[in-house]
Amino acid sequence: MKKIFFILIFILFSLPVFADKKLLAEADADYGEHLSGECVTCHHKGGLNRGIPSINGQDAEVFIALMLAYKAKEMENPVMQMIAGRLDDNQIASLALYFSKLK
Ligand code: HEC
Repeated sequence: MKKIFFILIFILFSLPVFADKKLLAEADADYGEHLSGECVTCHHKGGLNRGIPSINGQDAEVFIALMLAYKAKEMENPVMQMIAGRLDDNQIASLALYFSKLK
């Protein structure tokens, strides 16, 4: 009985990770590049950080988690909430894949 309990807990905690992996498997870095045009007006392309955090080279799974948190309004920034709110999961994952490859 105890074993089943632990297995259930394990599955519960790993679900979000599996979800990210599935999203990333369906992501398209070229599509991400296409979508990144509006992002780089604020998030500097050269990776400079002038008050706005650089998102170049950001780990793709962390990136997805951050974007979903803005979308769910769990993170406060209203600009990013609006931007993430307009993107679907595949678009977020494609952006994550594209930015994770940048220096
Ligand atoms: C109008 C300016 C602006 C635009 C456009 C913009 N962002 Fe942001 N972004 C910000 C600001 C400001 C923050 C920091 C917010 C905070 O402190 O929570 C941020 C934070 C982030 C973060 C979290 C970074 C971290 O390490 O905490 C990610 C990821 C991100 N943006 C992705 C994107 C993506 C992807 C796009 C394009 C679809 C985009 N942003 C477009 C201003 C912008």
